[in-house]
Amino acid sequence: MIEHMDEIYPPSPEFVAQAKVDAKKYEEWYAASVADPEAFWGEHGKRLDWIKPYTKVKNTTFAYPDVSIKWFEDGVLNAAANCIDRHLEKRGDQTAIIWEPDDPNAEARHITYRELHEEVCKFANVLKGLGIGKGDRVVIYLPMIPEAAYAMLACARIGAIHSVVFAGFSPEALGSRIDDCGAKLVITADEAPRGGRITPLKANADEARKHHGDHVKCLVVERTGADVPMVEGQDFSYSKLRAEASAECPPEPMGAEDPLFILYTSGSTGKPKGVLHTTGGYLVYASMTHEYTFDYHDGDIFWCTADVGWVTGHSYIVYGPLANGATTLMFEGVPTYPDAGRFWAVIDKHKVNQFYTAPTAIRALMGKGLEYVEPYDLSSLKVLGTVGEPINPEAWIWYHKHIGKERCPIVDTWWQTETGGHMITPLPGAIPTKPGSATKPFFGVQPVVLDPQTGEEITSIEAEGVLCIKDSWPGQMRTVFGDHKRFVETYFSQYKGYYFSGDGCRRDADGYYWITGRVDDVLNVSGHRMGTAEIESALVAHPKVAEAAVVGFPHPVKGQGIYCYVTLMAGEEYTDELREELRQWVRKEIGPIATPDYIQWAPGLPKTRSGKIMRRILRKIAENDFSNLGDTSTLADPSVVEELIQNRMNR
Ligand code: WTA
Repeated sequence: MIEHMDEIYPPSPEFVAQAKVDAKKYEEWYAASVADPEAFWGEHGKRLDWIKPYTKVKNTTFAYPDVSIKWFEDGVLNAAANCIDRHLEKRGDQTAIIWEPDDPNAEARHITYRELHEEVCKFANVLKGLGIGKGDRVVIYLPMIPEAAYAMLACARIGAIHSVVFAGFSPEALGSRIDDCGAKLVITADEAPRGGRITPLKANADEARKHHGDHVKCLVVERTGADVPMVEGQDFSYSKLRAEASAECPPEPMGAEDPLFILYTSGSTGKPKGVLHTTGGYLVYASMTHEYTFDYHDGDIFWCTADVGWVTGHSYIVYGPLANGATTLMFEGVPTYPDAGRFWAVIDKHKVNQFYTAPTAIRALMGKGLEYVEPYDLSSLKVLGTVGEPINPEAWIWYHKHIGKERCPIVDTWWQTETGGHMITPLPGAIPTKPGSATKPFFGVQPVVLDPQTGEEITSIEAEGVLCIKDSWPGQMRTVFGDHKRFVETYFSQYKGYYFSGDGCRRDADGYYWITGRVDDVLNVSGHRMGTAEIESALVAHPKVAEAAVVGFPHPVKGQGIYCYVTLMAGEEYTDELREELRQWVRKEIGPIATPDYIQWAPGLPKTRSGKIMRRILRKIAENDFSNLGDTSTLADPSVVEELIQNRMNR
């Protein structure tokens, strides 16, 4: 047993007394949500404003291969109107977005709901002026600036489908996403300051569009004011068009099942998939989880440190909080700039009440020492959250003691790009926490643990296996954009009748869930999700590389690190210079987050006689654990294993 894992931390009586959901209410609502999902979600769907109310609530089946998911299907609404217009009367002068820039000495901005309305309407009119309408795809490649939220909401307002691409991705990665969704427009900025450094976003966008001719236009937001080349008729300055745009733009009535956004995410095979979310169910789910998981109360200041390029930023910086009329903080920078106290300084400065970040950030900051925490007043905090990867109990305890001052419940939220919102998480006033456990399902979510071999449900309370979900919830993705078959095959073919998460888990004697990590070839590096297949295909795209196999290994700060085995073309020399060149190559092909930690030269890879690479063995070697390599007798050439062990990098 790892230290602290068997400890239980109940919320304080004072916290419970003010919480929206206590233990009794959780039990009641949860039971109702699974006993009669129609009635439960029919009621909670009313948290949104509908232009035409729904009469049908749930119409879903996980039956392979006829998977189909529809929620509130005959309802009509607009997501942007729900996030802005409906709040104007009561809270037009309340801050909707607090923007904290990268440079701590530059001025923070407070954007009220009324200002947000004006900005989003103008942005929407600019989009219309560029010929964008309902159903068109728009790629957003922006820094963490308010315009990123305006752009998303402007798309939602006119019924265009946004696809946000993380600004840390390379031109190649951006280009393939523009291609895949058939975007008409890319919205970017001149440059992105981050951590005191500058990324040339417009130049990247130009590079990405090289092969697209002039049919993909580019709208450029001024962030630094740098002089960037603009091509007449193809590139447009946002500030110029905004100056002429009207501040009136009626929201487009959208069907609940009309697409809201596409977000690319990595799977175990092939190119990243365009996860498609629709309007009604997604917004009900994002807003409801935001309210209850964080115990958000009117007037609270909520800060999620994710980037809007990831689903966490979609659901918990933009859509969830704004649908709830919250004040959401948007941070342009990084946790360690100008020093490792930045997060705590921002919490103090803006009096943040709920703080939501990734375990990798906590581990990194924990390593810098308490002198970066101590100068700041963190007494405004009420709830702390984590997301993206399992949190090790040591980091959990540090977070609890030094940030939450043993006062704030920690919500360890397990979910995915595909799920739209939290799936397994404590509700802070209802569920005592255990360090490292995501605890219990959210309302309406029915997790099951399956035996990976037989695919049978393990019905005993204590169980270990693969994590699947038994029935649909409103925030679930509806399809892979342009490839419904891939959606059905990826999530519903392996274990028939269930949604397969790709994660392993353990359920303890109290019915608490502990996520044990991916069971497929997906890595989780600093909370960023990456497919080993993507890194492998970047490596083999190099002219000197013949073959590559990529696996993860446990990394003290990043959670997982990237370990690559590379075989060169015959006659190529295995040198340290080439090793460094390949690291830079992957960085350029995908982005800095995919930079390999280790590249091991592998003149031979362990393969079965049928030519399949035995990754299990490669994983063990990368983990520095070769006491138990399992059966190697089926290998075509068992001697390569010994050679790989001798030359391992991760000692
Ligand atoms: C992992 C991020 C353990 C998991 C919202 C999942 C977690 C993948 C947790 C999805 C958690 C996310 N504990 N593991 N609390 N949250 N994961 O799509 O492996 O970027 O499948 O969504 O992150 O990553 P994604």
